[in-house]
Amino acid sequence: MGGEIGRGWCAIIVMILSAFVVLARTCDLYEGSWVYDESYPMYDSSKCPHIRKEYDCIKYGRPDLTYLKFRWQPTNCPLPRFDGEEFLTKMSGKKIMYVGDSVSVNQWQSMVCLLHAALPPQSNITDETINSTRTFTYQDYGVSISIFLSHYLVDIVDEKIGRVMKLDSITDGDIWKENDVLIFNTWLWWYRRDKQPWDYIEIDGKIVKDMDRMVAFREALKTWGNWVDSDVDTQKTTVFFQGVSPSHYNGEDWNEKGVTNCAKEKVPLSGSTYPGGVPTAETVVEQVLSALKKPVSLLNITRLSQLRKDGHPSSFNAFKGMDCTHWCVAGVPDTWNQLLSAALV
Ligand SMILES: *[C@@H]1O[C@H](CO)[C@@H](O)[C@H](O)[C@H]1NC(C)=O
Ligand SMILES: *[C@@H]1O[C@H](CO)[C@@H](O)[C@H](O)[C@H]1NC(C)=O
Ligand SMILES: *[C@@H]1O[C@H](CO)[C@@H](O)[C@H](O)[C@H]1NC(C)=O
Repeated sequence: MGGEIGRGWCAIIVMILSAFVVLARTCDLYEGSWVYDESYPMYDSSKCPHIRKEYDCIKYGRPDLTYLKFRWQPTNCPLPRFDGEEFLTKMSGKKIMYVGDSVSVNQWQSMVCLLHAALPPQSNITDETINSTRTFTYQDYGVSISIFLSHYLVDIVDEKIGRVMKLDSITDGDIWKENDVLIFNTWLWWYRRDKQPWDYIEIDGKIVKDMDRMVAFREALKTWGNWVDSDVDTQKTTVFFQGVSPSHYNGEDWNEKGVTNCAKEKVPLSGSTYPGGVPTAETVVEQVLSALKKPVSLLNITRLSQLRKDGHPSSFNAFKGMDCTHWCVAGVPDTWNQLLSAALV
């Protein structure tokens, strides 16, 4: 009799647990679409004093403002609105660092603006730059949020022959691993030849003048992955890698043949599929991450950002060049931070 009751309870518990498993599996925050929401953006960019002139689209004359009014809506679950005070309270005493290229700067600036808007004006926020690291510290919460600019993550060393990019070495990691949360990103510079900041590549102890850039990118990510596995205490430090941030120069990717930039884009693509598919670099990122021993979360922003052909500065920046690579602040990076916050708090 008692045994039967026990078995009954067991069955109920198993059912409840499997319901949770199904919920957890179907609740993918990165699968969804953009919906118009009058209550957005989350802050007024003209009130945020920290926006770099490359990303301050309204200040540099962007006339259409609809791009600010979209909220990311996951298909199977709600994405909580970013709450700056809650975020700082939950992260109390912690050090957060973004590491990567100018897309990381883009995201860091969005975070700093989100928090600026959330806090009272008398809050004690300090701003300090030491070597490659700029840090905002929210003294009332003991939370610091840093940006460490690193185009390739791996080292570039001045040697007799010139500047050598060492695909198998990451010495800056000693600084990074002191943080409690790390958000990595690199991609933008791997195919760049203008202003390229290295002269040679070192791989497996050999020096070469150049090589297949996608292979080099994969090697560098593998080095980064080995560094995480060997050097990062993931009990203490939560590690994110950001998916590749897409640019919009090829209209064919979003079914507008002949379009070669984002100048005329004023609204996102509707729905949740992107005709252009997954960027090759993103596939490389996902392959490298899946081979790691330590837990690293993919901040899977590629698809949702692909849908935002309207989110770039285009010519509304200080240098007036056509920029369909970076993102307006306020704008799409606010959603990246909203997703980061949802993963953390
Ligand atoms: C990233 O998100 C896209 C869109 O939801 C999805 O198709 C893809 O499988 C995700 N990648 C990973 C590694 O979770
Ligand atoms: C802000 O915090 C820093 C560091 O604790 C302190 O040195 C400074 O005096 C504070 N400033 C104000 C205005 O309270
Ligand atoms: C800044 O860089 C210098 C020179 O490489 C180094 O000696 C110093 O320790 C660095 N400072 C910090 C706080 O990392």
